[in-house]
Amino acid sequence: MAPTMAKPKVFVTREIPEAGLSIVRDFCDADIWPGELPPPREYVLEHVKGVDGILSLLTTPMDPTVMDAAGAGLKVISNYAVGFDNINIPEATKRGIPVGHTPGVLTETTADFAFALLISAARRVVEGHNYTLAGKWKTWGPSLLLGQDVYGATLGLVGFGRIGKSMAKRATGFDMKILYHDDYVPADDPFAVDIGAQSVDLDTLLRESDFVSVHTPLLPETHHLIDAAALAKMKSTAILINSARGPLIDPDALYDALKNGGIAYAGLDVTEPEPIPMDSPLLTLNNIIIAPHIASGSVVTRDQMAVIAANNLIAGLTGKRLPNCANPQVYG
Ligand code: DGY
Repeated sequence: MAPTMAKPKVFVTREIPEAGLSIVRDFCDADIWPGELPPPREYVLEHVKGVDGILSLLTTPMDPTVMDAAGAGLKVISNYAVGFDNINIPEATKRGIPVGHTPGVLTETTADFAFALLISAARRVVEGHNYTLAGKWKTWGPSLLLGQDVYGATLGLVGFGRIGKSMAKRATGFDMKILYHDDYVPADDPFAVDIGAQSVDLDTLLRESDFVSVHTPLLPETHHLIDAAALAKMKSTAILINSARGPLIDPDALYDALKNGGIAYAGLDVTEPEPIPMDSPLLTLNNIIIAPHIASGSVVTRDQMAVIAANNLIAGLTGKRLPNCANPQVYG
């Protein structure tokens, strides 16, 4: 009888939806951290020892120390997210380790949520709910919780990749004027031309937009892209939305701008740090909505992300090119 092949060993840093986890379990000898919170650093370093692959979440850094702890047999890191700022990509590439991520499937789901934040901030939906809960609703009021119109306003998209473009699609339904700033998307981009979106420099976008929505990856050069100087360029009536990564916005500068009338409102799905500390001054403001990083969180999308992450992992374990690779340069 032919000897049965040992399954590849993998460490999974948190349970992902069963749609993907079952694929991982079938194919691998999987060590899965069962906790609801991310595994402690020491636990990660111990449990990656000698693994062939790691399936990681954005809450667990994958840095050289983790890669060293895993050892030379580490063939793949598959991230259960489209973003991969938790992974040291140059280091993975240097070591010949392909990194998987989950683009595409979460684009529309994330844009839905970013647009929900935009409308909720403009029309003070959360404040209205809290007002009702507090028993303050005594009568219809001519000037009760007045907000701003979304319809016909100007939307500035910082980053015009997949999710930025999906925001733009939604904005066309509200007859919004659409501006975008993206060094990698030219002014004659066919989609932009088709929907009448205009490419502008960042200063113009900040100055002219009623809503500024951030959709750029977190890179060293985009860290605190929206800082005090950027906020000072925005209209005092402007609303800032972030569904990308928290550190794109300087939280102290945002607090000052919201507190002192620099801008009108913010809607955040991501913060710096995450989770937002309960003593953050941002939590003392009424003109902000903060959600706990759930923009991609629909049942269907999270299942699809899990399947993609599992398939990336297995491709890496079997020496195949990852279907969704964050560092294609690893293939030379
Ligand atoms: C991502 O995928 O990068 C999101 O932040 C979580 O889905």
